[in-house]
Amino acid sequence: MQVNQKIVKEKVKTTKVEKAVVLNVKDLKKYFPVKSGFLIQKTIGYVKAVDGVSFEVKKGKTFGLVGESGCGKTTTGRSIIRLIKPTAGVVEFLGTNIADLNEKELKPYRTKMQIVFQDPMSSLNPRLSIGEALSEPLLYHKRVKSKAEANMVIKDLLVKVGLKPYHIDRYPHQFSGGQRQRIALARAIILKPELVILDEPTSSLDVSIQAQIINLLLSLQEEMGMGYIFISHDLSVVRFISDEVGVMYLGRIVEYGQSDEIFTNPLHPYTKGLLAAAPIPDPKVKRSKKDMITGKVPSPINRPNGCFFHPRCKYKKAVCESEYPPLIKVSDTHWVSCYLYA
Ligand SMILES: Nc1ncnc2c1ncn2[C@@H]1O[C@H](COP(=O)(O)OP(=O)(O)OP(=O)(O)O)[C@@H](O)[C@H]1O
Ligand SMILES: [Mg+2]
Repeated sequence: MQVNQKIVKEKVKTTKVEKAVVLNVKDLKKYFPVKSGFLIQKTIGYVKAVDGVSFEVKKGKTFGLVGESGCGKTTTGRSIIRLIKPTAGVVEFLGTNIADLNEKELKPYRTKMQIVFQDPMSSLNPRLSIGEALSEPLLYHKRVKSKAEANMVIKDLLVKVGLKPYHIDRYPHQFSGGQRQRIALARAIILKPELVILDEPTSSLDVSIQAQIINLLLSLQEEMGMGYIFISHDLSVVRFISDEVGVMYLGRIVEYGQSDEIFTNPLHPYTKGLLAAAPIPDPKVKRSKKDMITGKVPSPINRPNGCFFHPRCKYKKAVCESEYPPLIKVSDTHWVSCYLYA
């Protein structure tokens, strides 16, 4: 992947500095009820999409969330930003637990956290010009006094995200996929948020455009100091952009820590399997075919006993079939939930 090396070096240099925590997620749960019955619907079970997830995001830093499809990454993001109400847990955003706040109480926090989805077309109103779409939040939240002032702010922002001031009068269908994602980013940052959740923001783009968007994200973060949660299947992108990483499996984080450490010294058989399936051109990364995972992710409605990964794990012990492994601290910057290290 082509990336801006200057930005990489600057980012690496600043990773040692301790930063303020923007978001602290503790034991977050989101269960969706499964209903059955024709006239009278009864709850017959729960999809445990997120089941006890904890991590933190520091100011100006990126937390990467990886895992196979259906493991609960999007549900984690949507619960944090309160697009859906968490079933349980704490979402401490800028020092306040927003997990249980009602809509009115949430209002001051809404502008400070934003989400960007994979498909920018579905998040942009096709009937509004870019100027209309971007001026809405500025005017609604009284960040500008007039339409003319809004237009000035928007034109500056369009340049900042790599577009042209005259794009203000165009409509979403008049842009390419990469340009639309730049507009979605502009809309996400227009109110200067503290936290941006990026849910597969580059998955629908081709590789060279992906690299441009990643570099744009890094330079915006450098300039504005936002914390990011970066959700992706693409391990090479997550490795590149993240300071810390959480590996999710069936609603839980099974390995967590500093990005370089997780990628150069993966411990959980699941993390090793994900890496084995996604070759990264880096000789430092240890991987072998023996780590390849077989089989499918079990249903989150009916999860295996013990460690959820044990039916697919080549290294399982007897205890793995009956007890869920605790999160074990391997170093100050690395945790793993696996009996191999207990
Ligand atoms: N509104 C809902 N009602 C019921 N089940 C849901 C709902 N939303 C998500 N789920 C289920 O929760 C689980 C986690 O879904 P989620 O979209 O969070 O996964 P994901 O990790 O983002 O997957 P992908 O990588 O494919 O985007 C899945 O089994 C999904 O079917
Ligand atoms: Mg998803």
